[in-house]
Amino acid sequence: VSSFQQLYYRLYELIHEEYKKHLQKNSIAVEYLQKRSFTAEEILKYEFGFSPLNSKIPQKVAENLGIKILKKFGFSTKDLFEGRLIIPIKDENGRIIAFGGRLLGEGQPKYLNSFETDFFKKSKTLFLLDRAKDQIKIADFAIICEGYFDALAFHRADITNAVATLGTAFTKFHAFKLKKITSNVVLSFDTDAAGLKAALQSIKILVLMGFNVMVANKSAEKDPDEIYRTNGKEGLYNFIKEAIPAEKFIPIALSKKYNFENPNAIQLFLKEIKNWENLFKNFPKRLEIFQSVVKEISGSSLSTTKIVKKSNFSLD
Ligand code: UTP
Ligand code: MN
Ligand code: MN
Ligand code: MN
Ligand code: MN
Repeated sequence: VSSFQQLYYRLYELIHEEYKKHLQKNSIAVEYLQKRSFTAEEILKYEFGFSPLNSKIPQKVAENLGIKILKKFGFSTKDLFEGRLIIPIKDENGRIIAFGGRLLGEGQPKYLNSFETDFFKKSKTLFLLDRAKDQIKIADFAIICEGYFDALAFHRADITNAVATLGTAFTKFHAFKLKKITSNVVLSFDTDAAGLKAALQSIKILVLMGFNVMVANKSAEKDPDEIYRTNGKEGLYNFIKEAIPAEKFIPIALSKKYNFENPNAIQLFLKEIKNWENLFKNFPKRLEIFQSVVKEISGSSLSTTKIVKKSNFSLD
């Protein structure tokens, strides 16, 4: 570790200390966290901060830390995170390498991250890996989420083998990092269309790298944070318990895009599915499961098509 790198960590540490102090002085920011059901103890434990209005950081420091310059005030620089809740982003060794900043209300962009630097690459960083790595080894699986508050929800529920990507897709670099400690993952992405897309894309990377992949997707809530706030610990336990293997998840998830009352739909579905079959070609057991689920879906949709056709006939 170079002395410049040491300085980088130290500066982030110092700014973080300032942000933590400001949080304690800002009732709106504290209330925001309370609304998200954080206790005073949890607020300290997860080291949230707040960037106050008129927060200024020396320009050279801001440049080197990837904290973008918005406006210049003489020798000082307007803080990128001004007015935002601060979430410290650490490397797997627990050193702060960046911040995430969330608006306290509605608006865009909802989150900002520090810009990338030599020591912070989004594509290589997994949020909370420092807190999760030991439990990932013990449990021999990792839970992967989309958002900061999703990974935090698992930790708050004492399911501490959860990490999150930082608003980018899951990458092979993330996978390399996890592969050193486990070969099993449970994807726990948002249950909306974006989450589905992210899950499918992650499955490709993970299966090719030899992971066993399960997918948790069955919930009325839209992400793990909301599951935790609505149904507590038990809600998250059940969500994970009901995860299904990727080889089952893919055909089920893809079939939902098609309206099988349309006679072309089965062919289109089977064509799309064909592209995924290759993924499991080196795993006979998984391939078999994949194919049997495809067959089940196309079989039952064939019968609905027949019924539709019959009723069309009777209309004639
Ligand atoms: P979501 O929009 O699902 O956010 O984006 P969320 O975590 O559920 O947010 P809350 O619960 O409303 O606070 C998932 C992740 O994508 C990144 C963040 O890392 C976020 O956690 N993201 C999202 C951004 O980087 N910028 C954005 O403007 C939005
Ligand atoms: Mn600190
Ligand atoms: Mn989302
Ligand atoms: Mn979300
Ligand atoms: Mn959320």
